[in-house]
Amino acid sequence: MSLHVEHLAKDYPTRSGALTVLRDVSLDLERGESAAIMGPSGSGKSTLLHLLGTLDRPTRGEVRLEGRDPFALTERQLADFRNRHIGFVFQDHHLLPQCSVFENVLIPTLVAREDREAMKAWARQLLDRVGLSDRLDHRPAELSGGERQRVAVARALIHRPILLLADEPTGNLDRRTAASIGKLLLELHREERNILLVVTHSAELAELFPRNWTMDDGCLQALSSSPETRIRSGLS
Ligand SMILES: Nc1ncnc2c1ncn2[C@@H]1O[C@H](COP(=O)(O)OP(=O)(O)OP(=O)(O)O)[C@@H](O)[C@H]1O
Ligand SMILES: [Mg+2]
Repeated sequence: MSLHVEHLAKDYPTRSGALTVLRDVSLDLERGESAAIMGPSGSGKSTLLHLLGTLDRPTRGEVRLEGRDPFALTERQLADFRNRHIGFVFQDHHLLPQCSVFENVLIPTLVAREDREAMKAWARQLLDRVGLSDRLDHRPAELSGGERQRVAVARALIHRPILLLADEPTGNLDRRTAASIGKLLLELHREERNILLVVTHSAELAELFPRNWTMDDGCLQALSSSPETRIRSGLS
């Protein structure tokens, strides 16, 4: 029950040659564990989340989720694996404007043959959990920014993912709303016992997490020297 990342690297091809964004990232997280990743703009935080979310392929290194190498799957199997086991919350919520709050949360369930009624019941429960029971029929444009992010959090959890990835989930929100979304993410993470990785520029949000890592020169460094910090530098 874990996320295992070993010597992960990512180069992007550019007109002036290969650009190395991630040099050597290794980490281990078990179910029920979480970490916040900070670091300057352009340091590769989103790139790392994209690789862990299997939205992009690494140049080198390996990712194992629940002992499985997702990149060994065919594109179709990978899409199914991602849909079932990985939840995303982005800074820009990516909600579908023409769909209601309720429909947006159910979108990930449309591709698979699943028990519709059970999914609807769980979607209602999740929306209740994020405090939006009285907004089910609203379109995203009829919500506040914080409410949209809460819909995105509910949608990310519809398949009870093993891995929940959030890329600056509170980036566009005022401090108070940001703190409440951060706390909500952590609460739901604890209830669901998933693995939660959050990228943030907010030290306030990062402080809520037991582990703080920073992206520096293409490698992850642990900010605290707490014994539970299980991050392996490229040299170890
Ligand atoms: N498809 C791409 N092709 C070439 N270079 C890319 C590509 N995507 C990202 N980069 C470069 O990789 C670097 C890391 O980008 P990334 O989006 O991971 O940064 P970040 O740490 O998330 O920054 P921010 O805090 O601003 O979101 C940047 O310098 C960016 O220009
Ligand atoms: Mg980014």
